[in-house]
Amino acid sequence: MAFNDLIQKAFQRNRSKIVLALDLELPDRAKLAEQSERILEDVRSYICAVKINRQLVLSLGLRGGVDSIVKLAHDFSLPAIMDAKLNDVGHTNEFMMRSYIDAGFDAVIASPTAGWEGGLDSVFSLATSHGKSVILLVYMSNPGADAFYSIAASSRGSEPRPIFEMFAEMAVERNADGVIVGATKPAIISRVRELVGSELAIFSPGVGVQGGDARKALDAGSSYLIVGRSIYGASDPAKAAREFRALTS
Ligand code: XMP
Repeated sequence: MAFNDLIQKAFQRNRSKIVLALDLELPDRAKLAEQSERILEDVRSYICAVKINRQLVLSLGLRGGVDSIVKLAHDFSLPAIMDAKLNDVGHTNEFMMRSYIDAGFDAVIASPTAGWEGGLDSVFSLATSHGKSVILLVYMSNPGADAFYSIAASSRGSEPRPIFEMFAEMAVERNADGVIVGATKPAIISRVRELVGSELAIFSPGVGVQGGDARKALDAGSSYLIVGRSIYGASDPAKAAREFRALTS
């Protein structure tokens, strides 16, 4: 089933717009795998997807590691997103994208900074041929993001405007299945919502530890909130996930 259908179904089933960022860090590989799986199992009814980042990929590896967590997510009828922020040249992007597809991921996050030709073109074409999704990074959640994503830039002689607006338009032109805009930037979320229209999903990390406000992000136009440490780092992750879910309804 396609990523958009999977996340929609999970949203309807669990009444949740929370994507769990499963970023645990533990020196012991076996314990890391076991604890990550336990947390996913505990919160599975309160989330609509799981997002995996380099913490797990670098510690567990893809094959015989992260792919088991992806499979567990699928057993719970939850889609899995790889936060790869792909931004290399074409053949390297292609290798990474194929590896994540082989590991079972439904969607992969890519960064637009590599540009299209010889950059992200290979990522999008692999996604299309395998029925997978690309989510494009449009505006980061960290405080220093403004220094780059709000730079005024001009493309082929057009009037200068913030570079994130071009990234949002690239997502629409290239048929991305979603964009990332930090929950810490509600005004940017509103602007991106205007640019991408009502249909494209906006995923917003940065709620909780990074200071983003769930309600403000959703009111500004976010479709889904990505939450990591405030859930997996809580003494009772299921309770924390349930409380975050309540904020999204
Ligand atoms: P926390 O613990 O802060 O985790 O709730 C957030 C998760 O999301 C990732 N992250 C981002 N990913 N664009 C992204 O593609 C962003 O702007 C961004 N900000 C945070 C972070 O690495 C962690 O996995």
